[in-house]
Formats: sequence, C-alpha cells, structure tokens
Amino acid sequence: MSREEKYSDAQLAAFGIDRAGIPRHVAVIMDGNGRWAQKHGWPRIEGHRRGVASVRSIVEEASRLGMDQLTLYCFSSENWKRPPKELTLLMHLLKQYLVEERREIQRQGLRFSVIGKTAELDPMIQAEMQKTIDASAGNDGMMLCLAINYGARMEITEAVQRIAESVQCGQLRPEDISEKTVADHLMTAGMPDPDLLIRTASEYRISNFLLWQISYSEIWVSDKFWPEFREVDLRAAIRDFARRDRRYGGLSPVSS
Ligand code: IPE
Ligand code: IPE
Ligand code: MG
Repeated sequence: MSREEKYSDAQLAAFGIDRAGIPRHVAVIMDGNGRWAQKHGWPRIEGHRRGVASVRSIVEEASRLGMDQLTLYCFSSENWKRPPKELTLLMHLLKQYLVEERREIQRQGLRFSVIGKTAELDPMIQAEMQKTIDASAGNDGMMLCLAINYGARMEITEAVQRIAESVQCGQLRPEDISEKTVADHLMTAGMPDPDLLIRTASEYRISNFLLWQISYSEIWVSDKFWPEFREVDLRAAIRDFARRDRRYGGLSPVSS
C-alpha cells in the first residue's frame, strides 16, 4: 500500500481517531453470517459469501489505519461440526478468497500468515495458502493472519507436548519453563498479543480463540452481523478502545 493510501493524521482526526490510540493488533471473531442470511430469508452460505466482502473492507481499512496486525477467526477446530454441505461451501469460499486476494495482498504490501492445524485442510487449500505466504514474505506492511482450523486449547495442548519433549530429551529443565517458553511454542510465536478483540453478532464469548494471547486484550462486541460490519464499525471500535484505561493489574496513572 502506497503512503498516500494510508490515512494522514488529518484524515484520522476527521474520524475522531488519534494515531497514538490505534491498537497495534486487532483480532476479530467474525460471527453471525448464518443469522444475517436467515434474516433475509437466504441460505446460510449467502452469509459466508457476503462475509468475504466484509473481510476485504476490514483488511484494507486496518492497513490504512496503520495497524501492525489483523487476525481474523475464519474457521474454528470446532466448526467441523457444521453440516457437510456448509463445510464444502466454506472450504470452497476459502480457496477462492486465497486465490482472488493474492494480488490485493501484494498491492497493499501485506504480510500473510495462517494459524491453525492447516495440515488437516485440503491439500489444494494448503498449497494456495503457502503460495500467498511465500509471495508476501518480503512485504513490510500489516500482518494479515487468518485463523483457520484453529482452536486455542488444541494450540496450548500441542505447545505443552513439545515443551514436554524438550524436557524429556534433556534440552530444557522444568524450572526454566517461563511464560515466554509457552508463548514461543504457540502458533502465534513472535506475534504481539491482540490489543483489541472484536466479536460481531452480539455474542459475549470467546469460542476457543487465542485464550493465552487475549489475557489483557480489550473486548468490544458489536451488534452487527459480520456481513454488515464495515469500515465505520471498525473505526467506532477503535474510538472506544482509545478511551479504555488499560491497567494490567496496576493502577491508572491518575490514581497512582
Ligand atoms: C461465522 O458465522 C462464520 C463461521 C463460524 C465459519 P456463523 O456461521 O457462525 O453464523 P451464525 O453465528 O450461525 O449466525
Ligand atoms: C466462532 O464462531 C468461530 C468463528 C468465527 C470462526 P462460532 O459461531 O463457531 O461460535 P459459537 O459456536 O457460537 O460459540
Ligand atoms: Mg456463529
């Protein structure tokens, strides 16, 4: 993305946003596709289809706002419980997105990454993912991270297994296991923790998303269904985030 496409301080001010108040990393639980479609009398998959347009808008807006990372929860390790027809269509949409978005990811200079058990996905999808990861590796723009076949408990369990193996083979002493050791064994190793977690469709739950990483994330729930969630809604979330008093267990500067 060229310099001109990023918002200037004046443009941000017109949105009521101060650059210093923009979260570095925003994670989104994109929920409500099915309900949005049903509200219109359409099959659930229409909601997923329209949801892709929201993904495009939010990715571009996050990048224009100058965020470092946007992580989108696309498919959970529990979503395999959906009916086979919905799963087939979801995977088809995912593949289509990966192919169609590659040019746009390159145009915007985004770095692309995926968290989740990708080895369980269709090999064609894995290949498309890898193509975009490789093609975008040299970019220096925002990190776009898709959580696909992702589950936080599975992620933590696998991390524990690998740490245990290191202990078993004598590479690591139990007393040397730190929070950093754990974080470094998660799929998000090297990524900053989300500052802001957004969930759409009025659901107040985490649904197995980034359990370790969101310890101190600010949470913002939107009553919009994901296919309705656009740039204005992201900016509203950011304005609200900027007003939060993040204390991390301490005291705010005013009271201390
Ligand atoms: C979110 O929308 C997308 C995925 C979980 C794949 P849903 O499909 O969960 O939509 P609702 O929550 O049933 O409305
Ligand atoms: C969470 O939404 C997963 C994604 C958005 C990919 P779900 O719709 O699967 O969550 P629950 O079942 O309502 O908790
Ligand atoms: Mg849902």
